Parts: sequence; C-alpha cells; structure tokens
Amino acid sequence: MALLVAGLASAQDFKYVGADNCKRCHNGGDHGNQYDSWWFDDLHSQATESLSSEKAKEYASKNGIADASKEAKCLKCHSTYHAAPENLRNGIKPEENVSCEGCHGPGSRYASSAIMRNRNIAVRQGMVLQTEESCLRCHNEECPFYKWFDFRADFARVSHPTDNESHK
Ligand code: HEC
Ligand code: HEC
Ligand code: HEC
Ligand code: HEC
Repeated sequence: MALLVAGLASAQDFKYVGADNCKRCHNGGDHGNQYDSWWFDDLHSQATESLSSEKAKEYASKNGIADASKEAKCLKCHSTYHAAPENLRNGIKPEENVSCEGCHGPGSRYASSAIMRNRNIAVRQGMVLQTEESCLRCHNEECPFYKWFDFRADFARVSHPTDNESHK
C-alpha cells in the first residue's frame, strides 16, 4: 500500500518544509550532523550575503538592477526560498539561503525515517540524488561571477558524511 501511494505522488505534491525540519533528525546523533556542518561551515547557508557585497552592488548599478539581494534573477540560485514557487513553500524561510532542499529536493513527502531509510522510495518521493548535473543547475555561467567548478574537489567540500566526527 505504501508503495502504491509512493508511485502516485507527483512533483506538484512536493513542498519545501525548511531546514528546521531536517534538523530534527540530522543534528548530531545517529543520522549525522549535516545541519551544523551546513550552517557553520558551508557558504551555501550564507549565499544571499554575496548579493549585498560591493561586487554585487557594482554589477547591479551597471546593469540596471536596483538591488541584487531582492532581484529574482539572482535569488533563483542564491536562495532556495525565493526559487521555490509560492504555493510550495511550507515552512522554508528566506534566511536559509541555499538550503538542504535546494540540493536534496523538497522534503514534504520523503522527510520521515521510514522513507529516508529506503533510497528508492525516497527518490520517488522527491529526494534528489547528488550528481555533477545537480550542482551544475547553479554552478554555471548564468552567474556573472562564475569562476569554475571542479566537481570532485567541490563535492568533497559539501558532502557532510554521517560518519564525519567534526560537529558531533
Ligand atoms: C524523522 C527523521 C528524519 C527527518 C525529519 C529527515 N531525515 Fe533524512 N534521513 C533519516 C534517516 C533515518 C536516514 C537514513 C540514514 C540513517 O539512518 O542515518 C536519512 C537519510 C538522509 C539522506 C541520505 C539518503 C540516501 O539514500 O542517500 C539524505 C540526503 C537526507 N536524509 C536528507 C534529509 C533532508 C534534506 C531532510 C529535510 C528535508 C531530512 N533528511 C529529514 C531521517 C530523517
Ligand atoms: C541551488 C543552487 C546551488 C546548488 C544546487 C549547488 N550550489 Fe554550490 N553554491 C551556490 C551558491 C549561490 C554559492 C555561492 C555562495 C556564496 O555566496 O559565497 C555556492 C558555493 C559553493 C562552494 C563554495 C563554498 C565555500 O564554502 O567556499 C562550493 C564548494 C560549492 N558551492 C559546491 C557545490 C556542489 C559540489 C554542489 C552539488 C553537490 C553544489 N554546490 C550545488 C549554489 C548552489
Ligand atoms: C545559475 C545560478 C546563479 C545565478 C542566476 C546567479 N548566481 Fe551568483 N553565484 C552562483 C554560484 C554557484 C556561485 C558560487 C561561485 C562560483 O560559481 O564560482 C555564485 C557566486 C556569486 C558571488 C560571489 C562571487 C565571489 O567571487 O565572491 C556573487 C557576488 C554573486 N554570485 C552575485 C550574483 C548576482 C548579482 C546575480 C544576479 C545578477 C547572481 N549572482 C546570479 C550562482 C548563481
Ligand atoms: C550544496 C548542496 C547541499 C546542501 C545545501 C545540503 N547537502 Fe546534504 N549532501 C550533499 C552532497 C553532495 C552529499 C553527498 C551525497 C553522496 O555522497 O552521494 C550530501 C549528503 C547528505 C546526507 C547523507 C550523508 C551520508 O553519509 O550518507 C544527508 C543525511 C544530508 N546530506 C542531509 C542534509 C541536510 C539535513 C542539509 C541541510 C541542513 C543538507 N544536507 C544540505 C549536498 C548538499
């Protein structure tokens, strides 16, 4: 029965529940401490600050953008909240910047222990696997400040494995 229901879920059912929700289970303990790794050690959690930097201000004034930190064209990659359609925001907050669900997918249907223990079911319920393509959605030349992207090196920097001893 659970499998049948899983098969019927479609993309428009998947809502963004917010990092506080993931934190309930991924905040030190058996399922890893991805929350603190992301919040304290990973610039994704601060990614809208770059939109208020001097660089961004200079770019904005030369390109007819009033304020890059409020500009949809920039926020679409720098903020998961702003990238999410309004009707799918269900708990996610603007201050999460590039949040868990910006990489792992909207969590309303996969974020429970029973589903999260089964990767195939979790993927059918909206969880996104991390591949080079999933990073390139944001790491590309559409950003005026794009530099380069080295998948193997960059992946290691953001992958916060459960057995990592730091932040425990
Ligand atoms: C009720 C507890 C719970 C919540 C809430 C939860 N998870 Fe999980 N998560 C788990 C469990 C259990 C696993 C299986 C691995 C383990 O036991 O540590 C897991 C595994 C994962 C994995 C690895 C899956 C795989 O197969 O590679 C990812 C990624 C993940 N969670 C992300 C999230 C995100 C993002 C959120 C919030 C949207 C979230 N989780 C919310 C319990 C939870
Ligand atoms: C939703 C968009 C998005 C996705 C998906 C994404 N990133 Fe990023 N990433 C960003 C933004 C925006 C920044 C710039 C943060 C800042 O403002 O400095 C960034 C910065 C980084 C940095 C520099 C962080 C630091 O601490 O110095 C690394 C490394 C990185 N990303 C790797 C990855 C990898 C690997 C993936 C795929 C597994 C990925 N990113 C997926 C948007 C994204
Ligand atoms: C396609 C997704 C995407 C879009 C659209 C985007 N960015 Fe970015 N931005 C990124 C990523 C990913 C990074 C991480 C750095 C990199 O690519 O080397 C980044 C980094 C930055 C940085 C930090 C660069 C540095 O060298 O410190 C600034 C500033 C920035 N973006 C401003 C903007 C502005 C302003 C806009 C809108 C005009 C914008 N971005 C649109 C994805 C995007
Ligand atoms: C920039 C993209 C990005 C963001 C943001 C992000 N993750 Fe991840 N996460 C990854 C990557 C990459 C991996 C490694 C996946 C793999 O090895 O296949 C990963 C792995 C995981 C795993 C599995 C760890 C393991 O050892 O199997 C969990 C659980 C997880 N993330 C939870 C979270 C939670 C919770 C948040 C927010 C607090 C979050 N992630 C934010 C990219 C991200």
